[in-house]
Amino acid sequence: MRVAVAVSGRGSNLEALLEALGDGREAQVVLVLSNRADAPALERARRRGIATAVLSDFRSASEWSDLLEAQGAELLVLAGYLKLVPPGVIARYRGRVLNVHPALLPAFGGPGMFGHRVHEAVLVSGATESGCTVHLVDEEYDRGAILGQRRVPVLPGDTPDTLAARVLREEHRILPAAVLAAARAGRPVPLEPQQVTT
Ligand code: GRF
Repeated sequence: MRVAVAVSGRGSNLEALLEALGDGREAQVVLVLSNRADAPALERARRRGIATAVLSDFRSASEWSDLLEAQGAELLVLAGYLKLVPPGVIARYRGRVLNVHPALLPAFGGPGMFGHRVHEAVLVSGATESGCTVHLVDEEYDRGAILGQRRVPVLPGDTPDTLAARVLREEHRILPAAVLAAARAGRPVPLEPQQVTT
C-alpha cells in the first residue's frame, strides 16, 4: 500500500513509520507533505530519499489531491499534522485517512487539543490513565471512528513532559501497527486486541 504522511513538526511518529514500513513490507511511505517548510520531519524523509512536498496553501483541496495522486497514494496518515485537512480531500479519500492522537479519545480531543495542552488537560482532570488513539479522520478534529488505543498509567509526580514521553512510546507502536493492518486488509481496519494492549 502506498502511504502519504502529513506532518507539521518533529516527526518522531514519521520515523517510527519509516522504520516499520518500506522495502519488502506491505506498505511503504511514498510522500511526506507538510504545511511548514521548516518542519524537522521533512528532513527525516529526505535523508531516506522519500519525496517531500511543502503545501503552499494547506487549505487547498486541489493542491493536496494533485500531490497525493501524483504519488499514487492509497492511504493518508496524519502524524503530528496540526491543521484541518480540507473537506474535499476527506471526501475523496474517505475511510482512508488516519490520525494518531495523544489521548484516549473521545476524551481530550477537539479543536485546540494538541501537543502539551492535551497532557496538561489530562493531568488537571485527575485521570489515572491516558494513552493514544488511532482513528479515521473526518471533517471535524478528532471525531472519526476509533480503530485502536493503547493505554498508559498517569503516575504521581507526572508533568506534561513525562506523560507525553510515556504516551509517545505507545504512539510509535500503534501507528505502524495500524498502517500495516490497513495494508494487509486493503483499507483501515480496527486493530486486533494484541496490538492495543500495553
Ligand atoms: C504526537 O504526540 C501526535 O500524537 C500529535 O503530535 C505529536 C507529534 O509528534 N498529534 P511527532 O511530530 O510525531 O514527533
